[in-house]
Amino acid sequence: MVEAYRDPRRSVEERVEDLLKRMTLEEKIGQMCQYSAHAGLTDRIKDLVRRGLAGSLLNVVGVENVNEIQRIAVQETRLGIPLLLGLDVIHGYKTIFPIPLALASSWDPEVVEEAARIAAREAAAEGIRWTFAPMLDIARDPRWGRIAEGFGEDPYLAMVMAWAAVKGFQGPELSPDPERLAACAKHYVAYGACEGGRDYNTVDISERTLREVYMAPFKAAVAAGVATVMSAFNDLNGVPASANEFTLRRVLKGEWGFRGFVVSDWNAIGELVVHGVAADGSEAAKLAVTAGVDMDMEGDVYRRHLADLVRRGVVPESLIDEAVRRILTVKFKLGLFENPYADPERARRVVKSGEHLEAALRVARKCIVLAKNDGVLPLPKTLRRVAVIGPLADDRDAVLGCWRALGDPRDAVSVLEGIRRKLPGAEVLHARGCDVRSEDRSGFAEAVEAARRAEATVLVVGESADMSGEAASRAHLGLPGVQEELVRAVWEAVGGRAPVVAVVMSGRPLTITWVAEHLPAVVIAWHLGVRAGDAIADVLFGDYNPGGKLPVTWPRAVGQVPIYYNHKRTGRPPGPDRFTSKYIDEDWRPLFPFGHGLSYTRFEYSDLRVEPSAVEPGGAVTISFCLANVGDREGDEVAQLYVRDVVASVTRPVKELKGFKRVTLRPGERRRVVFTLPTQLLAFYGRDMRPVIEAGVYEVMVGSSSEDIRLRGSFEVTRTAVLEEGGRVWFTEARVE
Ligand code: BGC
Repeated sequence: MVEAYRDPRRSVEERVEDLLKRMTLEEKIGQMCQYSAHAGLTDRIKDLVRRGLAGSLLNVVGVENVNEIQRIAVQETRLGIPLLLGLDVIHGYKTIFPIPLALASSWDPEVVEEAARIAAREAAAEGIRWTFAPMLDIARDPRWGRIAEGFGEDPYLAMVMAWAAVKGFQGPELSPDPERLAACAKHYVAYGACEGGRDYNTVDISERTLREVYMAPFKAAVAAGVATVMSAFNDLNGVPASANEFTLRRVLKGEWGFRGFVVSDWNAIGELVVHGVAADGSEAAKLAVTAGVDMDMEGDVYRRHLADLVRRGVVPESLIDEAVRRILTVKFKLGLFENPYADPERARRVVKSGEHLEAALRVARKCIVLAKNDGVLPLPKTLRRVAVIGPLADDRDAVLGCWRALGDPRDAVSVLEGIRRKLPGAEVLHARGCDVRSEDRSGFAEAVEAARRAEATVLVVGESADMSGEAASRAHLGLPGVQEELVRAVWEAVGGRAPVVAVVMSGRPLTITWVAEHLPAVVIAWHLGVRAGDAIADVLFGDYNPGGKLPVTWPRAVGQVPIYYNHKRTGRPPGPDRFTSKYIDEDWRPLFPFGHGLSYTRFEYSDLRVEPSAVEPGGAVTISFCLANVGDREGDEVAQLYVRDVVASVTRPVKELKGFKRVTLRPGERRRVVFTLPTQLLAFYGRDMRPVIEAGVYEVMVGSSSEDIRLRGSFEVTRTAVLEEGGRVWFTEARVE
């Protein structure tokens, strides 16, 4: 007779319980251990799997390796439990999409969902069933290189994108669908608030900021059904995130009712010793498992110490059982017991298909932000001679960004190639000018000469892929190396006589203040993935009208950091008087504000209606207005809704994003955009740290960026209501009539 846990007709719960009671303590702990196979399927890895001491591996790549190691797990272990194989499939698997910060610039959740869905389909076809994404760390500090991996500075935008990413990776719910992955919301929590923007550094923030800003996107991911959560490296208010009972057990698993499992970040449990909160590995294991970390990534701490801790009565076995239940539940739901193997035939069909490469182009276009345009863009396709200059002009590596999984630069399209394809009849001159980082100016002369000969110049400057992402914090935020000097040299030689356009590629906001003040056009291209060059050429030459908006503020100077749009008012808001909150040597305002992005057409906002004018807590307010394309091209506008709580019991931000909609309009077309704002979205943590919707007046601002507000109105909440803590999240419904 077949054991109950092998019987797919039984419920997941029954199967989990049946399996659990057959397992030895060592086998249970084995499920809680994950190891990296980045060095290949070594004897050590195979041995750990064979002995039932590893429940999960990361970095196993290739169908053959996947199938070999799964065969060992399924056929050579006592209970035949398949492995959960994970990989950082962040912005694509082999078809590489724009980095997440760029995806957020689309302000289009369908874009994020599509990129995740395709990444999942490719990875799953090769036997990976778990991704360490989405990364949901709010980042207000561009010095932190990992800002590239997330959705920017705003909790509401990140919540919407978190939901979309989870659905894209997992589907409507976690299931055996062979095209889907289990997702992992990381890095829980507040990792982005590291002091000085230095990776892995200390975080010390109030519980109010923690909950309202940093936890918000994680809560959305949990509400969307995310299967797993990763506990972060950083310490938070004195307690490391991977030993934090408050954030993990009380909030995540308690208040929000998270049913999946928590995996530590890479050796984060072992590092509890380095943090100085555990004397040794044994104490670290005890702290982590007690706090609610279910799986130990690569630390080897659980394997070494948990059994002993249980036998000595320090850790109750019930904690182990709880962790194993959570892990096995994910494995059963993914259908791994029925389908542990990858099908090489399917992998060949699916990975890097023409359809996926098309989607990568569509998505990349939507992520481009036109930051400045004094009328030189789009460039005419009738140009006969164009110069494409800069260290990133012909770079197929930078465009793949910081987490390219198994992406291959040979598949990527550089800007130079994109422009050559766009202008088959024209002469396209190319000079690097300098390297991304070196001090060598010997290539300047050639670059200047190319610009002199051309009718228009495109300068492609910024950061290489390894300058953002993990362990890539920067203290300076200008163009690296001598790139700004290159831009100046070219500008001085030809500026004013022929169009000079800057295309800036980076994994973070840069302080390109001089460039933005002098050059007539700046295109922010981030790292756009495998079709970057085609997408950028489409925008430069007007085959695509850019509509992306910044999901993060661009500072003028590093000294302004952290700088973000939803800051508090202070008692002395910046003004002409000296004794107000500003700098004596720099503007207090950013270079480009949150939500900023231009188009080749113009949009007009009119006829704001806010109904009702007074609402009970629990009700909703409808905010609608007319949006018209008054230019002569089709284009996209991201209409943005901001709200300001005029008087509250605690200080509140000057404005907060509460809704948005990317709308495509033909020339002359006019539509009514309708936002339905649930009052729950007005809640915040009051003086007693309970979530509350407070009575009073709320100012409504509708516009084209956080600084370009076109329409203003207000409504009133009639009474104060304290809300229950819980896992529910609210979104503003946005539609176009
Ligand atoms: C990173 C995580 C990543 C993990 C596995 C860690 O160093 O912080 O984001 O998922 O490695 O590769």
